Amino acid sequence: MNVPYITIFSTMTVDGRIASYVGYSKLSCKYDLLRLHRLRAESDAVMVGAGTVIADNPSLRLKYFNGKDPDRIIVDGLLRSSVNSRVYTENPQKTVVMTTGLAPEAAIGALMARGVRVVVAGTGPQIDMKVLAGRLWEMGYRKVMVEGGGRLNWSLISSGMVDEVRITVSPYIFGAGRSIFDGEGFRTTLDGPALKLKSSQICECGNEIHAIYSVNH
Ligand SMILES: NC(=O)c1ccc[n+]([C@@H]2O[C@H](COP(=O)([O-])OP(=O)(O)OC[C@H]3O[C@@H](n4cnc5c(N)ncnc54)[C@H](OP(=O)(O)O)[C@@H]3O)[C@@H](O)[C@H]2O)c1
Repeated sequence: MNVPYITIFSTMTVDGRIASYVGYSKLSCKYDLLRLHRLRAESDAVMVGAGTVIADNPSLRLKYFNGKDPDRIIVDGLLRSSVNSRVYTENPQKTVVMTTGLAPEAAIGALMARGVRVVVAGTGPQIDMKVLAGRLWEMGYRKVMVEGGGRLNWSLISSGMVDEVRITVSPYIFGAGRSIFDGEGFRTTLDGPALKLKSSQICECGNEIHAIYSVNH
């Protein structure tokens, strides 16, 4: 089955958190934002989970790098995100929502009325990420970047659908909160995917590390 090349980009604390226990998640320096937006510009689409839409209300457009806005893919099994979220009100025709048969019909109708493409990929509540990736390929997406959050990252990595992980380690500690991969967990190193370090650099700010890993399937 053909699937897009999927890259996760996350900025995390030294203890692997992408948000604190109160949901605070501003961890990127200006150079990290530039890296993030460069990857957006190089991608056909940027994917986030419902939790990120609800917590941050991002637009997922290009701001710090010139280029074409990528499409957005929102994974929202129950359609919990508000129809008034920026991803649905700003250029809604560039947004695809992947949901399930458990989503309220009224919510599907409201999104479609705005021009958002809604794909029901399974009976729910969980979407099989292999099915999701296959559908994205069929829709023409070849390079997809994922900007979290932790539960979507876990869904993808635990189903073997991630090709690359790009992390920035930001010099903070949260001690609790959302992890970069947040799910049932792997029992041992043998159960999870093996990563290979492709490159690492000290950020231009002098206080962050950016590393790129490929994921062996
Ligand atoms: N520092 C960073 O780089 C960074 C980046 C992004 C986000 N964040 C932070 O991360 C937090 C959000 O993370 P999160 O883990 O709570 O939320 P999330 O991963 O953004 O979204 C989780 C939701 O996505 C849907 N989902 C995920 N996998 C699914 C599957 N296989 N099938 C169906 N639906 C699926 C589910 O929605 P339903 O429950 O509706 O089914 C699930 O509740 C926020 O605080 C945000 O600020 C930080």
